[in-house]
Amino acid sequence: MTPTSALLRPPSTSMSDPAAVLEATGIAKAYRTGWWPRRRVKPVLNGAELRLRRGEVVGLVGENGSGKSTLMKILVGALDRDAGTVLHTGLVGFCPQDPVLYERLTCDEHFELFGRAYGMAEPNMKASREDIYATLGFAEWRTARVEELSGGTRAKLNLGLALLPDPELLLLDEPYAGFDWDTYQRFWELTRDRRDAGRSLLIISHFITDVERFDRIYDLVDGKTVPR
Ligand SMILES: Nc1ncnc2c1ncn2[C@@H]1O[C@H](COP(=O)(O)OP(=O)(O)OP(=O)(O)O)[C@@H](O)[C@H]1O
Ligand SMILES: [Mg+2]
Repeated sequence: MTPTSALLRPPSTSMSDPAAVLEATGIAKAYRTGWWPRRRVKPVLNGAELRLRRGEVVGLVGENGSGKSTLMKILVGALDRDAGTVLHTGLVGFCPQDPVLYERLTCDEHFELFGRAYGMAEPNMKASREDIYATLGFAEWRTARVEELSGGTRAKLNLGLALLPDPELLLLDEPYAGFDWDTYQRFWELTRDRRDAGRSLLIISHFITDVERFDRIYDLVDGKTVPR
């Protein structure tokens, strides 16, 4: 079983910026579908660049279909790129746009499964899990199967699984799309706490209303990242 949240140990690399935890340069990607004579090539990324430093919260913004999820999947290693390099240090947690959860497993069982996949000791996994339940406010659903959960609670579990091993770098694809206002506020408190602890976050959104919550923002336009 492959966990939702990819967790990568990187190759030893040297980045151009010593404070960087993630550097991507010259990323290109086209999707190829169908067979001749109906073969289609859809270029999505064309030289995208991105850098994250320790303790930064960076936004990735773009219209629907601009290629944000494609870029994030490439950064986390879940999708092959046609060109470019991706370097990162430390552990990477990934929260995909569409939760990949197991309908018949409970929330507790998900944390147990992912904790094992991450190689976490049981007491550490439990401490982290309890912290996540408390922060995101869904402890009452711990023994409920995913099939019983609302969309928002599924989104909390999806985010919680990426947070579980306390990764240095978190890549979140529209993490708060299904959250109510209270959870949305808690999400930003959690983000601030992580940043204060020197963790880095890349957060995708198609509209960023809280510009001041980000250290920097990239707009994804015509397959390229444009720093704001
Ligand atoms: N597996 C695939 N095969 C073919 N085309 C794809 C595939 N995945 C995505 N695309 C296309 O690539 C483009 C970029 O998709 P992507 O999901 O990266 O956009 P996005 O910026 O994340 O959009 P949204 O804001 O809707 O989440 C879209 O036009 C989409 O239709
Ligand atoms: Mg997307």
